[in-house]
Amino acid sequence: MTKNASRMAGRHFLQIPGPTQIPDRILRAMDTPIIDHRGPEFSSLAKRALEGIKTIFKTTNPVIIYTATGTGAWEAALVNALSPGDRVLMVETGQFATLWKNMAVKLGLKPEFITTDWRTGADPAAIEEHLRKDKAHEIKAVCVLHNETATGCLSPIAPIRKAIDAAGHPALLMVDTISSLASTDYRHDEWGVDVSVGGARRA
Ligand SMILES: Cc1ncc(COP(=O)(O)O)c(C=O)c1O
Repeated sequence: MTKNASRMAGRHFLQIPGPTQIPDRILRAMDTPIIDHRGPEFSSLAKRALEGIKTIFKTTNPVIIYTATGTGAWEAALVNALSPGDRVLMVETGQFATLWKNMAVKLGLKPEFITTDWRTGADPAAIEEHLRKDKAHEIKAVCVLHNETATGCLSPIAPIRKAIDAAGHPALLMVDTISSLASTDYRHDEWGVDVSVGGARRA
């Protein structure tokens, strides 16, 4: 047996922002035979999951379970809510915000990027100021990360909603909650979010 093929003792502990460690009882619960995806058992399981997931987003609206990575969910959110040529306001809270902005460019959107020092979350006052200048209401969405995984900066979502309203601007509020959902308080309905993008097995 070569050295590389020898058995490693203990549990591999992956120390990156995600995926997180999954509790053993959850891993054990997944260790069950496959069920018929067209049968009544799956139907009731899916209904329970779709109902229960609303409590995590704190919403009464339907939640869509989308089979993709976080990047795939970003794309789905942008292409479903916006059209090529639309101006969008994004905030550079770190590397993931930068990746979302780069994707917006590739999809033909026109992002305007408010820069930060990567030590603070999105500033509602800066968002309000930017929106007030857009008298023709050409900016169709404000896109922010609730928790920027790369820098750990948390953005204040409710005050950002207030800033959009204070500017009298109709832009949608789109929030990436991929590394904050279920670990940090998040309230889709109460905070007036239009599109929340969450993710499984994160933070
Ligand atoms: C806040 C945030 N948004 C988006 C992503 C992209 O998700 P994925 O790596 O699953 O494509 C990540 C990944 O860590 C993330 O932390």
